[in-house]
Amino acid sequence: MKYIILFLALLMAVAGFAQKVESLPAPNAKKLLKMSLGQTLQQRRSVREFSDKAIDRQTLSTLLWAACGINRPADGRITAPSAINAQDITVYVCRADGAWRYEPKDHSLVLVTAQDLRPAVAGRQAFAAEAPVCLVLVSDLGKFRMPNPHMELGAMDAGYVSENICLACTALGLATVPRASMDKNALTEALGLNEKQILMLNNPVGWPK
Ligand SMILES: Cc1cc2nc3c(=O)[nH]c(=O)nc-3n(C[C@H](O)[C@H](O)[C@H](O)COP(=O)(O)O)c2cc1C
Repeated sequence: MKYIILFLALLMAVAGFAQKVESLPAPNAKKLLKMSLGQTLQQRRSVREFSDKAIDRQTLSTLLWAACGINRPADGRITAPSAINAQDITVYVCRADGAWRYEPKDHSLVLVTAQDLRPAVAGRQAFAAEAPVCLVLVSDLGKFRMPNPHMELGAMDAGYVSENICLACTALGLATVPRASMDKNALTEALGLNEKQILMLNNPVGWPK
């Protein structure tokens, strides 16, 4: 009996440490990103009101791929350019069911915390917490492998990813706005970021009202 209890306790501990992973469906750029570049640029705008309709998995998958997913599987390069191909930007997907880290390599989401971090992303702009999904862009300056990488490199790389998000949202019929404001202290703590992982931008995303 003692051994059974010990075994069960061990099993529960292992389960607690195991990362919860959500595989995403394959992105469908051909079907969902058909709007011409001209039309997309014509229609792109910041929108700060969202319907409470959920974003389906296929749409989210295609949006994340467009943000910084792998577009050249042969060498693992991604849709967004990055200085010295550091691929330093991580996208965190903040939803009611927690904050998830997007992993471009296997196109999946890894649970970071079960907390709903959208209010922390919103900070002083409450409208952002109304979006079903808030994408948070973090640059890991450690990925530049330089003694003192310039913060600007990470900021510029985040700008490219955010613009990809803005354009993909337009083509997908989603509403978004790029934002620098957020509660950085709360997010740094909740996401477990280290001193080289810098919060750069966020994009609340939802269907237009
Ligand atoms: C780097 C950057 C930071 C921004 N931060 C915020 C923000 O914190 N809150 C917000 O409501 N909009 C923010 N915006 C959106 C701008 O206000 C918006 O792009 C601008 O008013 C032009 O409107 P448009 O995007 O519709 O062309 C930001 C935009 C950029 C590029």
